[in-house]
Amino acid sequence: MIHAMRIEPARKISGELRLPGDKSISHRAAILAALASNRTQIANFSTSEDCRATLRSLAQLGVEIERDGTSVAIEGVGLDGLRQPSAPLDCGNSGSTMRMLAGVLAGQDFVSMLTGDESLRSRPMKRIIEPLEMMGARISSESGYAPLRIEGRRPLKAISYEMKIASAQVKSCILLAGLNVRGRTEVIERKGATRDHTERMLRSLGFKVQTKTIERNSVEVEAISVESRAQFSAHSGTIPGDISSAAFFIAAAALLPGSKLKINQVGLNPTRKQILTVLRSLGVDVRLESVKPDGSWERQDFDEPFGDIIVNGSIGLAPAVDGQSNVLRGDLIPQLIDELPVLAVLGTQVLGGFSIRDAKELRVKESDRIRAVVENLRAMGVEVEEHEDGLTIPRRTRLRGAKLDAHGDHRIAMAFAVAALIAEGASEITGAESVAVSFPEFFDLLESVIER
Ligand code: S3P
Repeated sequence: MIHAMRIEPARKISGELRLPGDKSISHRAAILAALASNRTQIANFSTSEDCRATLRSLAQLGVEIERDGTSVAIEGVGLDGLRQPSAPLDCGNSGSTMRMLAGVLAGQDFVSMLTGDESLRSRPMKRIIEPLEMMGARISSESGYAPLRIEGRRPLKAISYEMKIASAQVKSCILLAGLNVRGRTEVIERKGATRDHTERMLRSLGFKVQTKTIERNSVEVEAISVESRAQFSAHSGTIPGDISSAAFFIAAAALLPGSKLKINQVGLNPTRKQILTVLRSLGVDVRLESVKPDGSWERQDFDEPFGDIIVNGSIGLAPAVDGQSNVLRGDLIPQLIDELPVLAVLGTQVLGGFSIRDAKELRVKESDRIRAVVENLRAMGVEVEEHEDGLTIPRRTRLRGAKLDAHGDHRIAMAFAVAALIAEGASEITGAESVAVSFPEFFDLLESVIER
């Protein structure tokens, strides 16, 4: 086990990589394969601890799973085939595991318990408790925090739920609960607000998923609904590389002049690839390959597009003429949510300064990510103003190597590993082993493309 990780600055990044499967898609593929009535084989399944927690929990619910590296075979038990677990399901550090499984467990005719590590037990769960109770489940919690005791009900009641926060985990929790409803379950969110992997996967499995644009208080919103079925079959397929993991490599290559990096077969779902648009608007040379002549993408397993990303590092990041890209805010934030820590690091190198606003959700992630980023940037000599909903870096600053703290959070560890590469002098990151939560191979792969 790594404890404090020492990182020396790098000259540039070069090479070609293929990354482990997308974490968000892997969770969903595993859960839906477990509820299907056939056996499926998933290739390039995420190697993350988070997805391991999902597989472990499904096994405790009576699902037979065979794993051989990144290849996972799942024997579906059908929508009514899960068994009452004999012990609480430990979701580890994974919010996605807890919130999505809660949706599934709400529609079972047994009682189950969901728990997790200290970080997960301090993350808000009222956001899923409320809609699931409206659907008829009974959930007790520690004042809105896990452990959760879920008394399921079969079938659940159909609801139409208007989302209060932009969260794909909450949306997915409700849609998965909707599989044990008679009729249609509807979730209303701002149009295109959050990642749509659940909707795509359900559609690819033959579910009738409708998205209707409607107007609420003169804002265009989307009503997403799913109609339940008595049973369904899942498909085997390959999970695309994780774009949120790719983001750290893309940022490192963008920040080190002379870098040339190709990342193969990365998921390019439109609700996840906003980071590429932001980088382009800051002048980064980032291109996509593998588009077919008709403009569609090469592979579409689980209805997910994927292609290759090529980044060339050059000197200096500067916003496009409109100057807007100095500030990330508003509707953009939910689509960049996991990339914001590394974007803050990148922001230290943007001419004219950089700001992130409307991102209060960062405070309830695996750590308080606003606090963690601000503290670590300050340790590296950056002047940074902390806001309740984000941060402002007033000017471009040369980073100094420093003692950094991951706050037990995988994305903070990886974002500051990138910061350490562009700093003057070596850095040391405490808690760097947390990368295993999403990306156990991170440091080895990084080392394989660094030139010093
Ligand atoms: C995820 C949704 C996001 C994201 C998380 C994974 C998902 O969380 O931060 O890493 O797979 O649906 P929220 O939906 O809670 O914002």
